[in-house]
Amino acid sequence: MAQFHSICKKHDVPIGSARMFVVNEIPIGIFHVDGEFFALDNRCPHAGASLSLGTMDRDTVSCRIHHWHFCLRDGTYLDENRPEFDARCFPVRLKGDEVQVQV
Ligand code: FES
Repeated sequence: MAQFHSICKKHDVPIGSARMFVVNEIPIGIFHVDGEFFALDNRCPHAGASLSLGTMDRDTVSCRIHHWHFCLRDGTYLDENRPEFDARCFPVRLKGDEVQVQV
């Protein structure tokens, strides 16, 4: 059963930025948008580039390689209606100063 894991401290990912952490051998991108944290599988569904190195714009991220866009809230691939290209999304909760992700 998926459990929440403490993945980092809030200050490890400043507002408007993202970082990659590994939980259970899964690379997870943590994205910080105005006090809200989101977690996506860091591997772009197109060709595996690091989504945490992409460009954030509010609650979306653009992959740095071919510029596909994904919703940070649920991983939806935004450029076409192609659910097979949605990014895997993980629930996030805050516990004190810790960012926890359900993996
Ligand atoms: S690898 Fe991300 S859009 Fe191509």
